[in-house]
Amino acid sequence: MTSTVSKSIAFDYPQQNAAGATCTAQAWAKTPPQLHGTEKAAVIARIKQLLIEKDAALVAHYYVDGDIQDLAIETGGFVSDSLEMARFGKNHPAKNLIVAGVRFMGESAKILSPEKRVFMPDLEATCSLDLGCEASDFAAFRAMHPDRTVVVYANTSAAVKAQADWMVTSSCALAIVHQLKLEGKKILWAPDRHLGRYIQEQTGADMLLWNGACIVHDEFKAVELEMLMAAHPDAMVLVHPESPQAVVDLADVVGSTSAMIKAVVEGTATEYIVATDNGILHRMRQLAPNKVLIEAPSAGNSATCKSCAHCPWMAMNGLQGILNCLENASGEIFIDEPVRVKALGCIDRMLDFTKNHPDLLAQAQHGFVKNIGVA
Ligand code: 13P
Ligand code: SF4
Repeated sequence: MTSTVSKSIAFDYPQQNAAGATCTAQAWAKTPPQLHGTEKAAVIARIKQLLIEKDAALVAHYYVDGDIQDLAIETGGFVSDSLEMARFGKNHPAKNLIVAGVRFMGESAKILSPEKRVFMPDLEATCSLDLGCEASDFAAFRAMHPDRTVVVYANTSAAVKAQADWMVTSSCALAIVHQLKLEGKKILWAPDRHLGRYIQEQTGADMLLWNGACIVHDEFKAVELEMLMAAHPDAMVLVHPESPQAVVDLADVVGSTSAMIKAVVEGTATEYIVATDNGILHRMRQLAPNKVLIEAPSAGNSATCKSCAHCPWMAMNGLQGILNCLENASGEIFIDEPVRVKALGCIDRMLDFTKNHPDLLAQAQHGFVKNIGVA
């Protein structure tokens, strides 16, 4: 059984919080200026020096600016999907972590490593899924379904994770829910309705879905994608499962950001249509320079720009923000200890599962290929 909670969430213009930076227009307004030439070189050199002096590691998501991704790799840090970001931050010996991504990624790092100081270039870089799943509303939803195992997506606040049995990312959600279904568990899922629907379809699990969505992936258009596919009949279509069902249904491969990169690197096709945030193209181009990458359409007929899938909150990460973390200790993440301890349980459970069951994870990766279910 699948059902949805009736809840109206204004994704484009969520209510402002006291800090006044939750709507997408304000997020774009906070996008840092691109640095160039000698100024950029000087900032990068200073960051490299301070990362060593302050015993800090830079961890970045595939959607942030390419210069930041390169810097993370060059300095012995890491660029990855949200699952591997959490694991890297936990296992790295540095005393300080700089997390370039969105708020939930910094919070996950702090929850897992309370002994480390965790900083972010801009603490107001959030996520529509997190914004659309407020902790008190979620508590009310949970209270209505006490018999269900609570599974939340990584893209949630620490306060929501503190109420969950399991945290999952798009890399491991299918394997974990499949396992829970085998154990006879009924699931309460939040917040991404598209990912939840996809997992439900693939596993056949009994899931109640929260009505949240990613403002970036929700915009991909199936009709336009079909026209693009007709123009590129040999292209392989890669879709992140936060996208609408009609778009997922057209995919050759549905998977996390790391699964999409793997598909481009290992795929035999020459052309790839990519339905996710366009920040990922930077790493794809580096790892597969001979492949042709085409952005999936995020706008309809009359639009002047057909492909502009970029997260306004990921775009708030800049080199100057990273330097501020290191020079001024700005953007530090703090989480109340009782909330942190409660939230730790569901993240640890996910990390243990993914470490101890690589076989189930690999099986589920096949499940992420269209029309091959795991059940
Ligand atoms: P991944 O876990 O696939 O990196 O996705 C994170 C995210 O925010 C996608 O929009
Ligand atoms: Fe959230 Fe979507 Fe941005 Fe990912 S791309 S951080 S899911 S708003």
